[in-house]
Amino acid sequence: MAVIFDGKALCQRVKDDVKAKVAEFSAASGRKIKLAVVLVGENPASRVYVKNKIKAAEYVGIESLSFNLPETTQEAEVAELVKSLAEDDGVDAVLVQLPLPEHINEQRILDLIPPEKDVDGFSDINVGKLTLGKPCIAACTPSGIIEILKSAGITLQGKHAVIVGRSNIVGKPVALLLLRENCTVTICHSKTKNLAEICRSADILVAAVGRAGFITGDMIKEGAAVIDVGINRTENGLKGDVEFESAAKKASFITPVPGGVGPMTIAMLMKNAYICAERRNEKNGL
Ligand code: GUN
Repeated sequence: MAVIFDGKALCQRVKDDVKAKVAEFSAASGRKIKLAVVLVGENPASRVYVKNKIKAAEYVGIESLSFNLPETTQEAEVAELVKSLAEDDGVDAVLVQLPLPEHINEQRILDLIPPEKDVDGFSDINVGKLTLGKPCIAACTPSGIIEILKSAGITLQGKHAVIVGRSNIVGKPVALLLLRENCTVTICHSKTKNLAEICRSADILVAAVGRAGFITGDMIKEGAAVIDVGINRTENGLKGDVEFESAAKKASFITPVPGGVGPMTIAMLMKNAYICAERRNEKNGL
C-alpha cells in the first residue's frame, strides 16, 4: 500500500518558510511585497483558486491587489490593465488567472508580464529560460511537484518519469524540471500509442490530463511514485486523473485529490512572489 502524501503539512511548511522571508524582506526594505491578481470572467473554479491565492498571500504577509473583470471584457482592455501593472513600480508580481475567456489570446496577455514579475512563469521569456536550464521563475504546479517528490525522499536521478498531458501549465514545464533533475522523461498525450504500456514503465508517473480516473491501477508499475494533478468536478465530488483505490495498491507513494498537488501550487506561488520581489530589489540595487 502506498504512502499517501499529506499536502497540507508540506504546504504549511513552505508557507511558513516564505512568511519568515517575507517578514525579513519587509523589515529590510520598509515596504510590503505586492501581488496583483487578474481574474476575467465567472469561471467558478478560477474564482475559488483566486480566493485561495489571496488568502495564502494574506497569511504570508504579501499584499494582494485584486482585479475582477467581466467575461465580456475585450482583450485590449485586459492588455491595458496588465501593461499598467507591468509598469507600476509598487507591484512585484502579476498573476493572470487562466483560462481567459475564449475571445482573448492568452499567450499575448501573458507575454505582457515582464519576466521579473511573472509569478506563474508562463511568459515566453521564463519558459525559454526554463528550457535552456537558466535561472528563472518556474510554473507553480510543476515546481510543487518537484518539492513533493524531494520531500518524500524519492531519488530522481536516472528514474523514468512519464508525464501524461502536454499542457503549457503543467505537462511541458514539469517535463523540463524533471529533466533538470536528471530523470529520463517521456511525455504522453492523446495521440500516444501504447499509453498503458509506457505508463507501466514509469518510476514516476505524473497524471495531468483533466479526465477523472483516467489512470488505473493496471497502468502503474509496482512501487512507482504517482503524482495526480487532475482536479475534476464529478457527480461524486472532486476527483483526480488517477483512480485512487486501484493505484494506491500498486504505488509506493501517491498524492490524493483533493489535498495533494493543489495546496502545493498555492504555496509555490507565494514562494515565487517572494522571489520576484527579491530579484526586483537586486536589479534596482536596493
Ligand atoms: N489555471 C490553472 N492553473 C493555473 C495556475 O497555476 N496559474 C494561473 N494563473 N492560472 C491557472
